[in-house]
Amino acid sequence: MASGQRPLGLRITGPAELTLQRSDGSEQALHPLWLRERCTDAASIDLKTRQRLQDPSDFDPELKLLAVSQPAAGIFRVRFSDGHEASFEAAAILAEAALAPAGHDCPAAKLWDGKLSPLPRMRWCAEPGDAQLESWLESFLELGFVILEGVPAEPGMVLKVGAQFGFVRETNFGALFNVRSTPEATDLAYTSVALDPHTDNPYRTPVPGIQLLHCLVNETSGGLSTLVDGFAVAQALRASHREAFNVLASTPVRFCYTDADTELTASAPPIALDASGELAAIHFSPRLDFVPLLPPERLEAYYRARRLFDARLRAADFEIRFLLGNGDLVMFDNTRLLHGRTGFDPAEGLRHLQGCYIDLDGPRSLYRVLRRRASGTPAVRRSA
Ligand code: OGA
Ligand code: ZN
Repeated sequence: MASGQRPLGLRITGPAELTLQRSDGSEQALHPLWLRERCTDAASIDLKTRQRLQDPSDFDPELKLLAVSQPAAGIFRVRFSDGHEASFEAAAILAEAALAPAGHDCPAAKLWDGKLSPLPRMRWCAEPGDAQLESWLESFLELGFVILEGVPAEPGMVLKVGAQFGFVRETNFGALFNVRSTPEATDLAYTSVALDPHTDNPYRTPVPGIQLLHCLVNETSGGLSTLVDGFAVAQALRASHREAFNVLASTPVRFCYTDADTELTASAPPIALDASGELAAIHFSPRLDFVPLLPPERLEAYYRARRLFDARLRAADFEIRFLLGNGDLVMFDNTRLLHGRTGFDPAEGLRHLQGCYIDLDGPRSLYRVLRRRASGTPAVRRSA
């Protein structure tokens, strides 16, 4: 929601009309069904779980307000045409009216390019206080990543850090995966070649939301980590080459992974949009993408668009590069950022990272819990 449209107040605009006023001067009479769904009395919801007791599809589709009054400051009393009466707190309705897209109550994404400075490097600790945890989360939610320094360079620590933010998602690689060059590599990540910007595992459903990479040891002079804000690149493409952007947002690409016991395949557009046309996710991995056999002109358009997008993803003006030293850990949003690494010479020494995935909603949930704790609001117990 644009900041000029903040819900400001509620006012009674007729014998049976309650109207929301916005900061840009616009007004909207509240829909009776919208209000009816938000009744929080014991007849409407189970007070323990806060879940609704009636299926709102069963409410009268022609439901009307019969009367609206204001018995006290900040409280409105409403009588509905189905005989139900309920009180509403103005503050609760205003907060609810401000909740447009999911997640808006967390820090908004701040898109960045190769000039991002300083990088969000923060000291890790095993038992962070709320303020410290919140600063890690703010950086992660705004920039899509955070670098935590001083995580003991011990095998398995990446799982401990992952568990501080959410639930580790196990895959066919295990709860954690080792990134080091081996002769039996089943993935190019497990060799010493440079990895161009990519998102991990677009062949899974759902795609891993967040990746953590923890450096146990890097004795080589190469193997620098790279990150690109895919949303910033997609936004720039949308501004300069609208047609190419639309092609990438509407072409489902098949991604595959195969080894002896696994055959994963999933289809997704390189630039996925949400229902309001906003950027939702990037799926990009040039080593494992296969566009279906579309009509020739659509294939032509797709290849042109992918070349443009990839050129920008690899351009120095969007990329940041940094060394993950022993004990450094980077946690990034795998649906927004692309990551990679420069090549290295395994003859120089060892390079060993451990990685794991967690779901995207963990840090957001934790952020809200911390905010709730800071404001002293009691928890509301909810289940599935
Ligand atoms: C990976 C990967 C980066 C690195 O394992 O998916 O991208 O720094 N690794 O080795
Ligand atoms: Zn990767």
